[in-house]
Amino acid sequence: MPPSVLFVCLGNICRSPLAEAAFREEARRLKLNVVADSAGTGDWHVGSPPDPRAQAVARKNGVDISALRGRQVKPADFRRFTHIVALDEDNLAHLRRLAPPDATADLSLLLDHVEGREGQPVADPYFGDDDGFDVTWADVFVGARGLAQKLRRGD
Ligand code: 4NP
Repeated sequence: MPPSVLFVCLGNICRSPLAEAAFREEARRLKLNVVADSAGTGDWHVGSPPDPRAQAVARKNGVDISALRGRQVKPADFRRFTHIVALDEDNLAHLRRLAPPDATADLSLLLDHVEGREGQPVADPYFGDDDGFDVTWADVFVGARGLAQKLRRGD
């Protein structure tokens, strides 16, 4: 079974769709067979496309995320995915509370996969300006690359 990774933020319209897209791109570059998805801990944006600012920064970096739709994380995800990767500590704490007793997924923070940035959050850009989305892209890109490299090594 290939590794399967679920990226989780609050709304599933800014950070986690970008992380999903960056990870899929990096896996393709490394010729790594993976499954990628994303979800939110909140339910406000279920069924919605990514925030237009997230779509714009993805497009600027060569990726189209317009077809993605928001969904909420659910207990079955903890058995379906080999890895669940939170974008910040609040979302990681939420995931720990939601995890069923028979959860098998490995839980981590995205930036735990980047040397020297362990424990750091990917800041929520939703209430900020457009420049914040460039920072988000830079963060999810290094995180996705670090995770893909670890999976390639079999860590
Ligand atoms: P995300 O950003 O968690 O990166 O998708 C947010 C999107 C929406 C909200 C908060 C954060 N909201 O409060 O609706």
